Amino acid sequence: MTDNSAPPIGAILVEQDDLRERVIALGRQISADYEGRDLLLVGVLKGAMLFLSDLMREISAPCEVDFMAVASYGSATDSSGVVRILKDLDAPIEGRDVLIVEDIVDSGLTLQYLLRNLGAREPRSLEVCALLTKPERRKADVAIRYTGFEIPDRFVIGYGLDHRERWRNLPYVAEFAGS
Ligand code: IMP
Ligand code: MG
Repeated sequence: MTDNSAPPIGAILVEQDDLRERVIALGRQISADYEGRDLLLVGVLKGAMLFLSDLMREISAPCEVDFMAVASYGSATDSSGVVRILKDLDAPIEGRDVLIVEDIVDSGLTLQYLLRNLGAREPRSLEVCALLTKPERRKADVAIRYTGFEIPDRFVIGYGLDHRERWRNLPYVAEFAGS
């Protein structure tokens, strides 16, 4: 199939170098905060995969990694807050220091669900590290311990983030310029 239309990649909001620099800083901070703890990184698939894999290489404290995959009912650009677990964690988290690693917090509804769901499993601590946040869009009040970048109310693609499963492979974060 040929697709002759221009790629829907708009203005770059976060350049590759800025991603790299921020990820290093977050890794340092997390390493210091979790030294001597029992850190389990929980990556939320699929959006957080690039962020998580870069971030964990910058964490010097011992850590383990597990994944959850969730789908939020809604349109391509708006989540409804009704979340379905597509893949659950492999192991229990009771008594562990869990850090949820998310690509972006938009309405906050997905994260609110995850915090309740994982919180009920009685981890010793439960915190959030999100690469991006869109504060203007927030509907649920969720506490984010570590944030990469605050961005305006734009739909973005790249560095793991998709529009209908495409553009996750872009090495920067850009505005989605398609329809
Ligand atoms: P929330 O429940 O509205 O906070 O949305 C959470 C999920 O929606 C994120 O984990 C992303 O997968 C997706 N999402 C929200 N905003 C964007 C965006 O600008 N680009 C790509 N995906 C997004
Ligand atoms: Mg998505």
